[in-house]
Amino acid sequence: MGCGGFSQRLICLLWICVLLGMSQTSKCSQIRPILINFGDSNSDTGGILAGTGLPIGLPHGITFFHRGTGRLGDGRLVIDFLCEHLKLSYLSPYLDSLAPNFTSGVNFAVSGATTLPQFLPFALDVQVRQFIRFRNRSRELLSMGSGNFINEEGFRNALYMIDIGQNDLLVALYASNLTYAPVAQKIPSFLAEIKLAIQNLYLYGGRKFMIHNTGPLGCAPKELALHPHKESDLDRIGCLRVHNKVAKAFNKGLLNIFKEMSSVLKDATIVHVDIYTIKYNLFAKYEKYGFENPLMACCGFGGPPNNYNVKATCGQPGYSICKNVSRSIVWDGVHYTEAANRLVASSILSSHYATPQMKVENFWES
Ligand SMILES: *[C@@H]1O[C@H](CO)[C@@H](O)[C@H](O)[C@H]1NC(C)=O
Ligand SMILES: *[C@@H]1O[C@H](CO)[C@@H](O)[C@H](O)[C@H]1NC(C)=O
Ligand SMILES: *[C@@H]1O[C@H](CO)[C@@H](O)[C@H](O)[C@H]1NC(C)=O
Ligand SMILES: *[C@@H]1O[C@H](CO)[C@@H](O)[C@H](O)[C@H]1NC(C)=O
Repeated sequence: MGCGGFSQRLICLLWICVLLGMSQTSKCSQIRPILINFGDSNSDTGGILAGTGLPIGLPHGITFFHRGTGRLGDGRLVIDFLCEHLKLSYLSPYLDSLAPNFTSGVNFAVSGATTLPQFLPFALDVQVRQFIRFRNRSRELLSMGSGNFINEEGFRNALYMIDIGQNDLLVALYASNLTYAPVAQKIPSFLAEIKLAIQNLYLYGGRKFMIHNTGPLGCAPKELALHPHKESDLDRIGCLRVHNKVAKAFNKGLLNIFKEMSSVLKDATIVHVDIYTIKYNLFAKYEKYGFENPLMACCGFGGPPNNYNVKATCGQPGYSICKNVSRSIVWDGVHYTEAANRLVASSILSSHYATPQMKVENFWES
């Protein structure tokens, strides 16, 4: 049965209302959510594996997927929990050539990705170009009548999510021998890429955006282990000051771009999420959340204080895994555990860290 003419469509709509009304008190105007994501390992659901063939297998995935999906972590990422909350299937990477499923959206994030071109071919501008190609090709394939592709309405109503920048900051920090000023000088060039991405996505019809700022890089066990430091290099909870200082400077600039874009792109809904505060709270109040040894990697080598050794990282010969992964914040020295990601996701979903304070599901309410 089709829903062709106007009156027919109205009847269809009424029917859908009746059906929904029987099962739940859902709003009739609700549109099916679609997520289109850009970023790095924080939200890579398999892009690096599909794109480079780097074998990211177990122990990554040990808690949930029980196989190598290409996610860096023991299980689900924040974006996976967002999908679950919205009752969507997990996002397929754009680069996945074997039976991808794009009905819930598409993921352009690739681990290691940067805003500016660096060592990987998947910088943010490339991810956006891939999106434009994806959008065009979906339209072509739909017009040929094939498959379950995202249609015009889907692209218009999709939520465009961006979480990127941490790798640019780390590359710049290493290059400057961990001094603040040279990194601060480069930050505007990173932010310009993010602004351009938002503008381009808008140009191609995007009207809903969620921008994540970057986390407290100085709390990563890897960073603490790699860089010899004095007590005075650490903040009150034991994280590297200079790392967190550049993260905060980046975030301040990102907030300004968010404000500018929100006022310029008037018919767009843009939400900024303060991931930094969410993640910093995990380290600062770790006991409250049921974690122990917050600055120690669960999967690694060497024991306290950080259980990180560059010669035996998680998955390389010599590594071991802590007794109870869900009591660790950080999995491999860099990436968060599923337990931590679940908490981060629920903080995002609470909307307490969002500006404007809007629930994610409200993107699709009319
Ligand atoms: C793709 O995922 C959707 C759920 O989002 C599911 O309903 C559909 O059956 C899947 N398609 C294939 C071919 O697996
Ligand atoms: C997408 O389509 C537009 C217009 O149809 C065209 O101008 C553009 O070059 C296409 N881009 C890609 C990447 O295919
Ligand atoms: C980097 O900084 C450390 C400590 O401030 C110093 O000992 C070292 O010589 C510096 N290295 C370079 C290459 O500048
Ligand atoms: C692991 O830690 C979690 C969180 O503290 C706890 O709920 C769970 O029972 C622990 N599992 C084991 C096997 O000890």
